[in-house]
Amino acid sequence: MSYAPKFLSGNQIREKFLMFYAQREHAILPSASLIPEDPTVLLTIAGMLPFKPIFLGQKTSEYPRATTSQKCIRTNDIENVGRTARHHTFFEMLGNFSFGDYFKEQAIAWAWELATEIFALPPERLVVSVFREDEEALAIWRDKIGVSPSRLVKMDEADNFWQSGPTGPCGPCSEIYYDFHPERGDTVIDLEDDTRFIEFYNLVFMQYNRDADGNLTPLQAKNIDTGLGLERMAQILQKVPNNYETDLILPIITTAATRAGLKYQEATEEQKVSLKVIGDHVRAVVHMIADGISATNIGRGYVLRRLIRRVVRHGRLLGIEKAFVTVVAQTAIEQGAEIYPNLRNREEIILAEIAREEARFLETLERGEKLLSEILAKQEQQISGVDAFTLYDTYGFPLELTQEIATENNMTVDIEAFETEMKQQRQRSQSAHETIDLTIQGSLDQLAASIHPTEFVGYAQNQAQAKVTAILVAGKSVEIAEAGTELQIVLDQTPFYAESGGQTGDRGYLGGNNLVIRISDVQKESGMFIHFGRIERGVIQVGDTITASIDRACRRRVQAHHTATHLLQAALKKIVGESVSQAGSLVAFDRLRFDFNCPRALTEAELQQVEDQVNTWIAEAHYTQTEVMPISEAKAKGAIAMFGEKYGASVRVIDVPGVSMELCGGTHVQNTAEIGVFKIVTEIGIASGIRRIEAVAGPAVLEYLRVREAIVKELEGRFKVKPEAIIERINNLQSDLKASQKEVESLQTELALLKSSQLEAQAESIGELKLLVAELPGADPEALKVAAERLLQKLGEAAVVLGSVPEPGKVSLVAAFSPKIYQEKKLSAGKFIGAIAVICGGGGGGRPNLAQAGGKDPTQLTEALATAKKQLQKILSL
Ligand code: ALA
Repeated sequence: MSYAPKFLSGNQIREKFLMFYAQREHAILPSASLIPEDPTVLLTIAGMLPFKPIFLGQKTSEYPRATTSQKCIRTNDIENVGRTARHHTFFEMLGNFSFGDYFKEQAIAWAWELATEIFALPPERLVVSVFREDEEALAIWRDKIGVSPSRLVKMDEADNFWQSGPTGPCGPCSEIYYDFHPERGDTVIDLEDDTRFIEFYNLVFMQYNRDADGNLTPLQAKNIDTGLGLERMAQILQKVPNNYETDLILPIITTAATRAGLKYQEATEEQKVSLKVIGDHVRAVVHMIADGISATNIGRGYVLRRLIRRVVRHGRLLGIEKAFVTVVAQTAIEQGAEIYPNLRNREEIILAEIAREEARFLETLERGEKLLSEILAKQEQQISGVDAFTLYDTYGFPLELTQEIATENNMTVDIEAFETEMKQQRQRSQSAHETIDLTIQGSLDQLAASIHPTEFVGYAQNQAQAKVTAILVAGKSVEIAEAGTELQIVLDQTPFYAESGGQTGDRGYLGGNNLVIRISDVQKESGMFIHFGRIERGVIQVGDTITASIDRACRRRVQAHHTATHLLQAALKKIVGESVSQAGSLVAFDRLRFDFNCPRALTEAELQQVEDQVNTWIAEAHYTQTEVMPISEAKAKGAIAMFGEKYGASVRVIDVPGVSMELCGGTHVQNTAEIGVFKIVTEIGIASGIRRIEAVAGPAVLEYLRVREAIVKELEGRFKVKPEAIIERINNLQSDLKASQKEVESLQTELALLKSSQLEAQAESIGELKLLVAELPGADPEALKVAAERLLQKLGEAAVVLGSVPEPGKVSLVAAFSPKIYQEKKLSAGKFIGAIAVICGGGGGGRPNLAQAGGKDPTQLTEALATAKKQLQKILSL
């Protein structure tokens, strides 16, 4: 056997692994969803998770052996993503499993055969770790497989005893590592040294169940659970320095780099980190949405939201200001769809969800920018730690960004105070952060199992008496909380609508005996309605009876927007075509957003027709009817369902008779006339084949009009004209401005010429040729060119190179050569000045006799001109 690992693509590695075990009588099973059936974990974190009930003896397996490639997500090390060679949120785990069939010796033998024969890894490059007390495994590796004792390492429980959570199936394990530097010898084998070793295959000998007190009891059968990291094997076989540069992730990174105007290989280390984070997270995001997760403030929805926000933030660190994530996501979908067709089937939903979240976050960032300008307007010398922290924590501004902006404004940032704030926040919310940790879904579900599901009474009531069934503070369940506390409250029944189906959760108050809690958001999880709020006054305790009242004005706004969304969909189908279908929607207090499939932009005329149609239906004052019926009946009646959405056996149907019929759990007006008026604000494309309409209805229209009115009033005041005359006034101003600009340009040219005539005397003679290299301060590119031409005319057979800084951050260069230079000396002005411009971080070129170039780094202009002079002196004197 010769060991020469060949390049294998990620897909080939997966295929070879699965085939190897299929040939050894393992059933190849598809990857389970990222949403685990196991309620104690938030996301699928390992290949074994779907088999947990089998290991525990709660279920019998159809097959004694199985093999899978399992999509996994782990977020516990999220800060390391992009910074180490191999940390991921999303990754694929290849596994072979035995359910009471083969055990340790067979698992070890096959793992070794796979590594050394299928993947052709040389044995002298492998190191094996075993659990310190597992003498049996040690003996198998040493005596049966023949691994040299110097490359067998005993490890403690922390490293070589594997379990999927605090309780459940577990067992000692044995790991195979690849050694990138066998030349460093075997005297010191430090498996923690990740510049040398990478663990790629973990064999778990599943034989115990751990209970809540930590006790181990033997499982009914001895099982095998293994995990081989696909990305890690790809790194080894593709001989790249990290997992990110494998064919599984690099294409995604490349798309992101292109959006940022970068080349990955030429990027700085920090830029590479951002690109890697984007590559990793976008992969996670598309798979999560494909598996049915949508962004929310809790549980796995929050993991998704956080990942998307981190992608946007790293995009901004790379200088990408506009929405870009859907484009990168398209590459990720492309990349994974062959193996996971669900990505392709749900592409539209994935892209719409990403676009919506990204837009939402960009708005938050924009609000942050507003806050920042207020801070700057205070004109103090320093941005306080509290302000910098608010920008960071609430608005997602990285500290470096705030510092940069501060420097631009001659200010500093109080870093020490920022760090103190950060530390305090960490302490305050240690457990709040855990809401995205793997175990919290478990505790939420445990909580849900211990109380009654919340009954929603908000279709008919605005207010209800309710009993407090649970209180959460910083992610932990507590019995009592007092004024000033931010908390989440679960009630036995509630009139508050929880965010779902695009409709924002209700706002309002919980009140009682001297108690006031302001509720700002409501989310639904495991049957519980979780009210997010802050205690303004009083004390609340589990078991208390309180009065829950929604903010009716807010509810009216949402209802107007929700029914208007249904009317909008009906109008689009009527005017644009039946093929229009919903791809996503947001129903908020201040506006509605409707994303739909349509291959082209709508015309102005169509938009107006749609708007008119919706307003006609509003004016016709249709009563809306709500009915709960079996899904088959709803479908037979022609109710519209959202593609890809999961529905139960009985569904709620919102009917605007003769106009629209949709499956919907949201809250609606009783009569369309309550909407009042509907106005489209924008229509844009958000991804290929997906359009978005933003609109306002009901009371929000008034706000929209007031904002517009204020703008018009302001313009009226400034220009001192009637609104009708504003456009004409602006036209006039623009043409005046153009004329003035032209005048300035010609004055500048004249000035440059004047200055250049003084330069003539500086020309040096080299034989019968003349050379002039000089800076013409402030000259714009046009003036620079005219001056160079004029100087060349005067100097005769000569080379003239001029440079200037026409505006901050810009460099302008020009070269004018006479025929002797570009014909006899064969030196083209275009090529020459292009090469010189590189020194100033730019480029350019042009004809052999006259060429211009530009750059971005004025500090290098002197250097660039000196280089030009030196080179020309040499060439001209040859
Ligand atoms: N379940 C084991 C792991 O995740 C194989 O490492």
